[in-house]
Amino acid sequence: MRSTRGAQRSLVVLTGAGVSADSGVPTFRDAGGLWEGHRVEEVATPEAWARDPRTVWRFYQLRRAALQEVEPNAAHLALARLERECAARGEGFTLISQNVDDLHERAGSTVLSMHGSLSHLACELCGNVILDTQSLDPDRFVPCGACGQEALRPDVVWFGELPRCLDEIDAALHGATHFLSIGTSGLVYPAAGLLSAARSLGAETWVNSLDPPENLHPRDRFHPGRAADVVPALVERWLAD
Ligand code: APR
Repeated sequence: MRSTRGAQRSLVVLTGAGVSADSGVPTFRDAGGLWEGHRVEEVATPEAWARDPRTVWRFYQLRRAALQEVEPNAAHLALARLERECAARGEGFTLISQNVDDLHERAGSTVLSMHGSLSHLACELCGNVILDTQSLDPDRFVPCGACGQEALRPDVVWFGELPRCLDEIDAALHGATHFLSIGTSGLVYPAAGLLSAARSLGAETWVNSLDPPENLHPRDRFHPGRAADVVPALVERWLAD
């Protein structure tokens, strides 16, 4: 990364499914647009939940259970180290993720989860949100501990719902000197617009992915390859600069 010694550096990182691929979590668009054999509109929309809650619940319960079988990889660990080092140096660091897995948190990161979290359930009636990684039966709804109703849903952002943390993300982008996008196809907005927003605001932009994402621009520095290989090397360069 270009030397900015003497200037106050502030890095914003955006991750997508590719950062967790090396942990064994499948990416979305690898299977021809199908998630575990389902079309997105069958399982990841409020309409699907209203029409067929059992199928949607089962799909998310299986994804929640699958999280117990995976671990953070070298990319997650490198980003957690980078956050600690930036804090120690007084440099800005913000991690934003589109992923609903909890691998960044388990690696030790603080993360703005734009699309929610598989580890949490939210009550549609009283708004109670709980951390629950134990109730994993795919065929049993979980009653809300606060209101007692069987109205808990996965605390994830479905298509057609508003992504989270937009104000914090906007503030981070406005202060960013560098922006790094990792493992995202650049297809789903508003997350896909963050790279160009950072570029327009004057940040130096870096991209890691297996394939060039849809939103890649000639000014972006593209580092192809597996996140578990590329991200630790980029972090080393950042820390050495
Ligand atoms: N290392 C780095 N990048 C990888 C790796 C890897 N090991 N494996 C795959 N990739 C890249 C692919 O080249 C692709 O660009 O990760 C990207 C994965 O793209 P998607 O599957 O489309 O995932 P993502 O961009 O995170 O999806 C965005 O869409 O389905 C919705 O809400 C869901 O958050 C998700 C959003």
